[in-house]
Amino acid sequence: MTRLGVVLSGRGSNFLAIADQIQQGTLPAEIAVVISNRPDAPGLAAARERGLAAVSLPSKGVDREEYDRQLAAALREHGVDWVVLAGYMRILSAGFIREFPQRILNIHPSLLPAFTGLDAQHQAFDYGVKIAGCTVHFVDEELDHGPIVLQAAVPVEGDDTPATLAERILREEHRIYSEALGLLLTKPWRIVNRRVVLG
Ligand code: GAR
Repeated sequence: MTRLGVVLSGRGSNFLAIADQIQQGTLPAEIAVVISNRPDAPGLAAARERGLAAVSLPSKGVDREEYDRQLAAALREHGVDWVVLAGYMRILSAGFIREFPQRILNIHPSLLPAFTGLDAQHQAFDYGVKIAGCTVHFVDEELDHGPIVLQAAVPVEGDDTPATLAERILREEHRIYSEALGLLLTKPWRIVNRRVVLG
């Protein structure tokens, strides 16, 4: 069974959506460990409650390269095959990315390449887009940039606020993250230039 290492910084709802799919038998994987750079992340507490290995690895005051070495070591210790970023609010160093080639996924709450970085739903709302959404992508050395696995579109309604829009995007995030993982773990795929070719 493929071993996932979930890395998060906060609430952890994407992690829980993936954990639910695994529990229901619809995603053939297991969560080997959940790691947070924030000791007080609710996602870490949720992992403990579910009886999963949960590791607090505080990033505060630690040099990025050094932190990423510790993170890679903790993931290796738990025999992780795939790294699943689920609301991990730090940029990974090139050294870390080279440790897990084509095995690091991220979810971002916009239709990339639009609205990279923080608070993407708010950025999209303020820009006035009519279609927002979310993206599951491989992680490369640039922020919110790697090859795209799946995207979902979310229409912006007239009475939306940034909060209501973010809520509907989140529902789609929960759906497509497990779906993308399921595809990559069960079907043939390859990356051609930067296109993820499935099947
Ligand atoms: C999600 O909306 C995720 O797409 C976003 O943070 C939130 C985490 O929520 N990630 C990023 O913005 C990464 N650039 P969660 O902790 O409930 O999964």
